[in-house]
Amino acid sequence: MRKIVLNNGIEIPMVGIGTNTFGKVDNQYYNEINFDTKELRIAIDVGYRLIDTAISYRNEAVIGKALKESNIDRTEFFVTTKIPGGKGYLSKEEVHNAVTKSLEALNTDYIDIMLIHHPWENLDEILSVYRELELFVDQGKIKTLGVSNFNEKQLGFLMTRARIKPAINQILSCPGKWQHEFIKFNQDLGVVVEAWSPLNKVTDEQKEVLNKIGKKYNKTWAQVILNYQVNRNVIVLPKSHRKEGQMENIDIFDFQLTDKESEVISKL
Ligand SMILES: NC(=O)c1ccc[n+]([C@@H]2O[C@H](COP(=O)([O-])OP(=O)(O)OC[C@H]3O[C@@H](n4cnc5c(N)ncnc54)[C@H](OP(=O)(O)O)[C@@H]3O)[C@@H](O)[C@H]2O)c1
Repeated sequence: MRKIVLNNGIEIPMVGIGTNTFGKVDNQYYNEINFDTKELRIAIDVGYRLIDTAISYRNEAVIGKALKESNIDRTEFFVTTKIPGGKGYLSKEEVHNAVTKSLEALNTDYIDIMLIHHPWENLDEILSVYRELELFVDQGKIKTLGVSNFNEKQLGFLMTRARIKPAINQILSCPGKWQHEFIKFNQDLGVVVEAWSPLNKVTDEQKEVLNKIGKKYNKTWAQVILNYQVNRNVIVLPKSHRKEGQMENIDIFDFQLTDKESEVISKL
C-alpha cells in the first residue's frame, strides 16, 4: 500500500475504505444500525487499514467492533472520524461530549484524525470548535485534525489561526468534479486532499472512456480513476459492499498511466 506523509509527520495509506452505509439494515444510509461488521471485516481482511467514518454515520460502534474482531493491533489502523459541522453552533461542552462519545463508540484510546465534517458559515464558529479539538490533540486522544468540504476562504482562515494546522481536507473529487485548481491550493498549503465518493457519480459515457484506457493495463474504469487520483497525491476513499469490489479498489498500484491518458482523464 502506498502511503503519504501528513504535516504532523504521520504516514497515512492512500486508499481507505468508505463506510457510510456499513453496519446498516440493507446498507441504506438512513436505515437502522444492525451492528453487522461483515463488510468492514472483509475490507480489513483484503488489506484496508485506513477507515473513514463520521459521527453522523451513526456507525462508529460498528467500526470499533470490527477493529476488535480483527485482532489486529490498533496501531496498524488509521481511523478517521468527523464531528458534525455546518448547522448549529457547538459549545465547548458539546464538542467535549461528542469527542468523548466518539472514543467510546470506536472503543479506542485515540482517534488518528478528526475532521470537521462541514464548515460553519461563521469563521469564528469554526475556530472555536477547532480550538476545543486542539485540546484533545494535546491530551493524545486525537492524533491530529483536519477538515472536510472547506473552501479556499475557510481553509485559508484556519491555516492562519490554528495552532495545529489541519492535515487533511476531505472533498468531493471525481469525474465531472475533479477540482484541479482547488486541490493544488490545498497541496500548496501542505494539506493532503482526500476524495470522497470517488466512484459514485461516474456516468456511463465516462466509464466507457475509462474502460478503454484501462483495457491495456487489464484494469477497470474504477481502478483507472483511483490510480489517477493517487498519482496526483489525492487519497481515495472508495466504498464497496462486495469483496470483489473492495479487492479491485485496492489493486491499483501496479500500472502507470501515460501523460496523454492522464490528460484525457483530467478533462472528463
Ligand atoms: N466528507 C463528506 O462529506 C463525505 C460525503 C460522502 C461520502 N464520504 C465518504 O466517502 C466514502 C465513499 O463515498 P461513497 O460511499 O459515495 O462511495 P463510492 O466509492 O464513491 O461509490 C460507491 C458505489 O460504487 C460502487 N462501487 C464501488 N467499487 C466499485 C467497483 N470497483 N466497480 C464498480 N462499482 C463499484 C458501489 O457498489 P457496490 O457496493 O455494489 O460495489 C457503490 O454503489 C463514504 O462511504 C464516506 O466514508 C464523505
